[in-house]
Amino acid sequence: MKLFSSVNDVQNIDSLVAEALALKQNPHAYQHLGNNKTLGLIFMNPSLRTRISTQKAALNLGMQVIVMNLDKEGWALETQDGVIMNGTTVEHIREAAGVLGQYCDIIGFRAFPGLINRNYDYSEDIFNKFVTYCKVPVISLESAIRHPLQSLADLITIKEIWDTKHPDPSHKKIPKVVLTWAPHVKPLPQAVANSFAEWMNKANVDFTITHPQGYALAPEFAGNAKISHNQHLALENADFVYVKNWSSYNDYGKILSDGKGWMMDNQKLKLTNNAGVMHCLPVRRGLELADEILDSPNSLVLNQADNRTWAAQAVLKNILSL
Ligand code: CP
Repeated sequence: MKLFSSVNDVQNIDSLVAEALALKQNPHAYQHLGNNKTLGLIFMNPSLRTRISTQKAALNLGMQVIVMNLDKEGWALETQDGVIMNGTTVEHIREAAGVLGQYCDIIGFRAFPGLINRNYDYSEDIFNKFVTYCKVPVISLESAIRHPLQSLADLITIKEIWDTKHPDPSHKKIPKVVLTWAPHVKPLPQAVANSFAEWMNKANVDFTITHPQGYALAPEFAGNAKISHNQHLALENADFVYVKNWSSYNDYGKILSDGKGWMMDNQKLKLTNNAGVMHCLPVRRGLELADEILDSPNSLVLNQADNRTWAAQAVLKNILSL
């Protein structure tokens, strides 16, 4: 693997999940792999989990890590080609990425969408330019439309919890996983929901997406998922419920309503098969998810955050093993 930008860069997701879980058992087994190798983590947007878990993963593999908040600490970046840079931008992504590639053996890069021009965001222009010009292997730390490290950690979490509940290897039932839209006060990217859907559509799960009218994900991400606008029906007998807000794809980047009635709470949890409730974090308590769930044993949000380290470590190990 030279690029980790989506599930399509992974040959076998089950093997990658197994690798991550093995690393969780033995974090320092491959310390030699990262000897004298440098990971650069370049952020155009804020981060807590992605930054620290990927750093921890690299340290476990014996790598050196450099972190830069390029949006705040770097020169104002120009990403369009062919422009006369007589405005506020100071450095072109061609040079910035090229320079960073000289300092690092692997680079993780985060760049959120503008949520104004759908075609531009969905072309992944900034992420793809960074990959092209840095000339070293790149890991997406969340691009305009995908968050693959999060989705890998989510799949690891589902596998881990499901196997713990069903230790008998002859157990054949597959989990019902429901991705439910949740209210929010700000227009958020579709990246986490897109990626989660993309990974679940490839995983051995029964997958449903529920959202209000107007919040359909792009068809290439919704894939073969069952779609319901009735959250209560969708939640029935769910084993895992993934709670996440996203802004409209069709009416691009817009919030269409206050989303009243869509917050996940204990009443709705009763419809499920005592589901594990997931969220990528950061979460808005009392808006996206009720405190009573976040503070209960059903909440898997810390399990997911923990598994971010092992997801990143499995991906880094694969790249270092090239
Ligand atoms: N879930 C996630 O990506 O968290 P951060 O934005 O804090 O990295």
